[in-house]
Amino acid sequence: MNNKEKEKLVKKLYEKYPYPSRIDSSEEKLKSFALWTAKTINENNTYWKGKTILELGCGTGELSVGIALCGGKVTAVDFSKASIKKAKLLANKKCKQNKPTYFLRNILKLKENEFKKKFDIVIALGSLHHTINAKKGFEIGCKNLAKEGIMFIGLYNKYSRLRHRIKRIFVRIIAGDNIEKRIKIGKLFFNKKTQKERIADKFGQIHESYHSINEILEWFKEQNMEFIGSKPNYKTPIIDEINWLLKKRNAFFVMSGKKKA
Ligand SMILES: C[S@@+](CC[C@H](N)C(=O)[O-])C[C@H]1O[C@@H](n2cnc3c(N)ncnc32)[C@H](O)[C@@H]1O
Repeated sequence: MNNKEKEKLVKKLYEKYPYPSRIDSSEEKLKSFALWTAKTINENNTYWKGKTILELGCGTGELSVGIALCGGKVTAVDFSKASIKKAKLLANKKCKQNKPTYFLRNILKLKENEFKKKFDIVIALGSLHHTINAKKGFEIGCKNLAKEGIMFIGLYNKYSRLRHRIKRIFVRIIAGDNIEKRIKIGKLFFNKKTQKERIADKFGQIHESYHSINEILEWFKEQNMEFIGSKPNYKTPIIDEINWLLKKRNAFFVMSGKKKA
């Protein structure tokens, strides 16, 4: 399958199963996503106040709304119409003022000056590894950052999710690239009780890429970014990543960098 076909299927999946479609969307819960993100660089929710933020691949808007509730001025993009629709509904429900602004866009087609301004912060959590070129998505994010702006990037780790990857191979052997069939098989064999959007994201998803700490550090270097923090913290790449793998956690890791002046 070529990249264009892959991208089409990724979009199709999130049109039918907008992610994460969280059931608990209390103000407290939404703010907890903002806090989780701020904590990756040892900050708290006061960090967002007054900052301009671009979120790449916002899904159904839980993080963007959480940050807006903390005073951040959020612009968010996603290429799934259904996700953007849900994000807007959530924002209308939760934010009396300071609503995030949502745009239907393909991350990989954003221009450097797409929004006629640069942002203090760019966030791409759990989205770039589903684009057909995560590195390009990262570079586009950096281009939209102001000087000394901060980028948060969250990806699946290269040394993680081995069991899950084997399950995905099994699902692929049986169901090929048929999204509905993949979801059915995934549910039947592995995740009977999980919310449908989650199963779709795990098994219906035909494309996910995996990345290492060293790789992201290299991306930062190439974009003149200084590494400032990660979750989980690490001391030695690869050794720590294998340690995460053995402890069966931290498939998802977040790294943050600051654009040098
Ligand atoms: C797994 S969801 C993550 C959503 C949200 N960031 C979160 O962490 O809950 C991935 C999202 O990325 C979006 N996405 C994937 N590729 C994209 C692209 N090329 N352009 C825009 N959005 C994309 C999908 O539509 C989906 O909403």
